[in-house]
Amino acid sequence: MAKLAPSILSCDFSQLKEELLSAWEGGAEIIHVDVMDGHFVPNFTFGLPILKAVRKILPQVTIDVHLMTDDPRLYIADFIREGANMISFHLEASPDYSSIVDEIIKRGGRPGVALAPGTPWQCLSPVLDRLYYVHLMTVHPGFGGQKFISGMEDKISTLRQEIRKRGLSTEIEIDGGVNDQNIEYLAFCGASIIAAGSLVFAHPEDIAARVKILSEKIKQY
Ligand code: DX5
Ligand code: ZN
Repeated sequence: MAKLAPSILSCDFSQLKEELLSAWEGGAEIIHVDVMDGHFVPNFTFGLPILKAVRKILPQVTIDVHLMTDDPRLYIADFIREGANMISFHLEASPDYSSIVDEIIKRGGRPGVALAPGTPWQCLSPVLDRLYYVHLMTVHPGFGGQKFISGMEDKISTLRQEIRKRGLSTEIEIDGGVNDQNIEYLAFCGASIIAAGSLVFAHPEDIAARVKILSEKIKQY
């Protein structure tokens, strides 16, 4: 059953609590938290204080931290201690990615490796069986509200086929440019966790309803 992961990057941060509670009310089980360092990507967002706030507002939710930072190893222990459940970092930032996966597992997190659109999933072939998820970016990381990069559908389907072929239960998270028209097809292609920012939070009065409708569209996959 594919699941929606609302991304707080598109929240109105003056209403963070209300908006998160609405997402929860709509049935969101996973909240996506984008951490950007202004160096690995040309944008800054937030770090531990916001993660702690999300955890305090929603004690039961699964928090999915997406590290878009250099040296991701530096942040793993702190983020897991403060409530991250799933944590992904970029392969492009981490030549020693395999040992970072081990570090996440050792600390009790569910490890994911994020891939920029141009990085083939085959790079992760050696570690696929140790990952809880592969995090496929479907826009260039750094900003919310971008257009989905076409062609990513094939990347999702071929990775899904490989996961099936190997008998693994690895999740595929996709992230960026998800809209009302493509969401269902992306779940059909094999995305099992669908991060969505602007699609969920663009209309603050509708957040619970949006989460519900979008989750309905993808739950059959
Ligand atoms: C972009 C972030 C995404 C972002 C998606 O670098 O990783 O998680 O929030 O935003 P939308 O859904 O608006 O494309
Ligand atoms: Zn993200």
